Amino acid sequence: MNIRTIAQIKNLKNKAVLVRVDYNVALKKGKIMETERIDRSLKTISYLLKKKAKVILISHLGNPGGKVLNEFSLKPVAHYLDSKSHKPVIFIEDCLGTKAQDAVRKLKSGQILMLENLRFHEGEEKNDPKFARNLSDLADIYVNEAFSVCHRAHASISAITKYLPAYAGFNLANEVINLNKLLKGFKRPAVAIIGGVKISTKIKVIENLLRRYDYVLVGGALANNFFVAKKLNIGKSIFEKEYVKLANSLLLKSKGKLILPLDVRVAKKINKTSEIIKFNIADLVKVNMKNYQIVDIGPKTENYFESFIHQSKTIVWNGPMGVFEIESFSHGTNFICQKVSAHAKGPAFGVVGGGETIAALDKLKIKSWPDFVSTAGGAMLEFLEGKILPGIKPLLK
Ligand code: ADP
Ligand code: 3PG
Ligand code: MG
Repeated sequence: MNIRTIAQIKNLKNKAVLVRVDYNVALKKGKIMETERIDRSLKTISYLLKKKAKVILISHLGNPGGKVLNEFSLKPVAHYLDSKSHKPVIFIEDCLGTKAQDAVRKLKSGQILMLENLRFHEGEEKNDPKFARNLSDLADIYVNEAFSVCHRAHASISAITKYLPAYAGFNLANEVINLNKLLKGFKRPAVAIIGGVKISTKIKVIENLLRRYDYVLVGGALANNFFVAKKLNIGKSIFEKEYVKLANSLLLKSKGKLILPLDVRVAKKINKTSEIIKFNIADLVKVNMKNYQIVDIGPKTENYFESFIHQSKTIVWNGPMGVFEIESFSHGTNFICQKVSAHAKGPAFGVVGGGETIAALDKLKIKSWPDFVSTAGGAMLEFLEGKILPGIKPLLK
């Protein structure tokens, strides 16, 4: 997959460059909880500044639904960037209108301007050509540095590319290169570990990787759907009824490539004082699960999964193995996190991604171990489904 990047732009001097970033970060009382997405955009911003361009940053934050809502303002992000970029960041309270136009007019080469949340306008999520056109009028060149929103056909990702020459930022290019390595020309055995909660968002990834990979290991609440398909009793555990049939057909089709847990840790309640009991999966037909729910994979599964990790030459992990936010339910996730990261640091090419999955890596302070850590959630999953994302298509050479 070959995309046009900003390194190919010949003349940036005095050019107004509209950079679509993904500064959709979690905020708590105005404090940014995780700055990785912002930090990773700095390379592209400083490159553009060094080449004497005028940088105009646009992003969304949260889901304000086309309304101006203060809690979704990008102002705290502008403050953070101001402290990081060694250049003052000018902030304007709207991404369109006379104030934004004036600020762009006054902007000098080597300066940074940041505009307010794109999703304060309805046109953004509607991929409205008029909204995109108005945005494009602010600049000469468009740069997409927001891989994690590339699965959304929104105005600042898709429609805008009809009106401006479009290029990828360094971080977007890096995401594409690394995720592409998971789908093309990879070394075998190739192993995927998929966990977390919503099978509806992950079943197509499981399907696609079952076609390409040697093994797909399923853990977390995702595995529950397969247990139900196998007519096992999972008590109060969460699963998605509408997906059980598909889970069953994958089990039948997968011919031993789809690997499920051998045992689980269960508890009566999702809280830190709840006692943990271990059950073998084979026993789930006979034990009384009525008051229990599965909260983690069990110790036999940890070792079983490790044996696949150990032999892999390509490995991708997305989704925790249990309710890892609670210390006593985090054993399986921490174990897999350690093993995958260490193996990726060592002989295998390994990628980790997903919001909660990265939080697990972060907690163990081993985020630098895998070959690549994607900051994307939904976009990474859809990329791994084998789709050409609406944000990537216009950047292809
Ligand atoms: P990611 O953001 O990394 O893709 P997900 O959003 O799919 O991951 O899933 C993360 C969530 O899954 C975590 O909050 C965790 O508590 C939950 N989870 C994992 N296993 C279970 C389980 N067995 N029961 C309930 N929730 C689970
Ligand atoms: C993300 O955080 O995954 C992206 O910024 C996309 O956000 P969205 O799910 O609100 O469209
Ligand atoms: Mg998540």
